[in-house]
Amino acid sequence: MAACVLLLLVLALGAVLDIGDSFSSNSSSSSSSKLLAVLNASAPVNEVLFHIDVWTGEADVAGALRGPASSNLESVIRSEVSGDWKRGQVVLQLANQARTPELKQAIYTGLWKELQQTKQIYDPLKILDFYDQLAFNSDVPPALLQLVHQAFISRSAQLLEAPFYTNSRTATFPLVDSLLHRLTFSALDYLRDILELVYDAVLALETPLSVVERLGNFTGSLTQLALANLQLLQREELTRDEAAADTLGLAMQDNLRRLLDQPSFEQEVEASLRQQIYAQLPSDEQLLYTAHKVCIRNVTDSNAYIYECPQTYLICSNARDPKKAAYYIQRGHSNDSRPQFAFYSAFWRNRYILMEPSPLATSNTTNAITKNVYSRANISWWRVVYRKGGVSLYDAATENSVLCGGDPIHFDGLERHVYTRKASEFAAHREECTWSVEDCSDAT
Ligand SMILES: *[C@@H]1O[C@H](CO)[C@@H](O)[C@H](O)[C@H]1NC(C)=O
Ligand SMILES: *[C@@H]1O[C@H](CO)[C@@H](O)[C@H](O)[C@H]1NC(C)=O
Ligand SMILES: *[C@@H]1O[C@H](CO)[C@@H](O)[C@H](O)[C@H]1NC(C)=O
Ligand SMILES: *[C@@H]1O[C@H](CO)[C@@H](O)[C@H](O)[C@H]1NC(C)=O
Ligand SMILES: *[C@@H]1O[C@H](CO)[C@@H](O)[C@H](O)[C@H]1NC(C)=O
Ligand SMILES: *[C@@H]1O[C@H](CO)[C@@H](O)[C@H](O)[C@H]1NC(C)=O
Ligand SMILES: *[C@@H]1O[C@H](CO)[C@@H](O)[C@H](O)[C@H]1NC(C)=O
Repeated sequence: MAACVLLLLVLALGAVLDIGDSFSSNSSSSSSSKLLAVLNASAPVNEVLFHIDVWTGEADVAGALRGPASSNLESVIRSEVSGDWKRGQVVLQLANQARTPELKQAIYTGLWKELQQTKQIYDPLKILDFYDQLAFNSDVPPALLQLVHQAFISRSAQLLEAPFYTNSRTATFPLVDSLLHRLTFSALDYLRDILELVYDAVLALETPLSVVERLGNFTGSLTQLALANLQLLQREELTRDEAAADTLGLAMQDNLRRLLDQPSFEQEVEASLRQQIYAQLPSDEQLLYTAHKVCIRNVTDSNAYIYECPQTYLICSNARDPKKAAYYIQRGHSNDSRPQFAFYSAFWRNRYILMEPSPLATSNTTNAITKNVYSRANISWWRVVYRKGGVSLYDAATENSVLCGGDPIHFDGLERHVYTRKASEFAAHREECTWSVEDCSDAT
């Protein structure tokens, strides 16, 4: 009985092989393949597969798959695919009709062997498609899945390395762009695995600073770029050179700010990744994104806080009053998409810190101040510039004025008014025009 079935099987495979051979001579004739047509029609498929099923069912399965029948099956598959990735996908779909897991596995394995012979194996996107289809099918041996996955990861990594080896910051890499785009539809873990290989390779050959800078020019989704920067930050290679630490830190912050500058950052990037990004920023800057409410105070005088003056609608820098000094932060973007901030009084609940336009800001008088900062119902946007030890606040509309305070000449009794100076005079009045941001979320 077994011998009889085996004979049938060999005959069936032989016939199939003949068909395959006669058509593989023209590799572009994929659509006219008789084998595919036969396999595609339900009756003959079942006939062929049935014989194989019976045979593998009765004999030692593992032995059979290693034996002549399995290699026959492989040669059927290989002659059928004959280097054509698309035909490979059709065979993959047909494998679903195999009646035993063993047969399916033999088809998958033969198919992968064949596809590795084709040049297309170098295109990670094709491997990913194949992997996705395999993962979707049942009965694919886990070891095979793992193999295909590894091929995809390492091919992707080789592609992604290219931009890190170029000296140009203006070169474009369309294949890298399309790989990253395709990856937006897959689990973030794929990218994580790819980046690990990429960083292994590029950090062995390039300086950390150059790697950080090149990464700054990548185009990808905000989530991908956030992940890539955070993953790079975790590499011990970045901490090796203490002398370069400052430059490296600044370059990394540039990368992260470029992400924060995107208006959709908060919607697109999920909270835990965002928190990790914020945590890399100087504390003043971090608070503008993470604190519920902030206070703004003098850097050196811990009892001089910005809030509405006791008697006028001007803004003062007066003694600590946590209630009145607490401001909610509103974040926005100017029309060139840079971030801007508005400060809404948590105490009055209907007023912002507002700067009225000042003609002085554009005049050429020097060392002049303007008292044009009020507590008002209208929203008023500020541009925050991060300094060593604090921040300075410029009016976002013109960026010609900077918020300053502390000069007693401009105080009036109890009211220690703040004022603006021309932005161009910041350097001469650095201490007057640098502020500290404090977390006042707990102020009630
Ligand atoms: C292969 O098939 C294509 C499409 O059927 C045909 O145009 C072409 O001439 C064939 N080539 C050979 C070498 O037979
Ligand atoms: C398989 O059969 C379907 C439906 O009959 C047909 O549309 C398709 O072109 C066939 N595919 C091949 C490779 O013969
Ligand atoms: C790459 O980044 C640098 C620094 O931010 C920038 O000046 C340059 O325009 C960027 N190049 C491209 C092609 O975006
Ligand atoms: C952006 O806004 C500024 C100030 O409001 C204006 O001068 C400039 O023309 C605007 N630019 C664009 C591209 O809309
Ligand atoms: C600016 O300064 C120049 C010379 O320093 C003077 O001639 C000019 O009138 C000034 N302009 C204004 C608007 O004050
Ligand atoms: C404040 O807003 C009101 C209503 O939008 C407007 O009429 C008024 O001119 C604004 N005032 C300032 C100082 O911008
Ligand atoms: C902070 O306080 C010092 C000392 O009083 C003063 O010189 C400086 O101008 C103040 N700075 C600000 C921003 O208020």
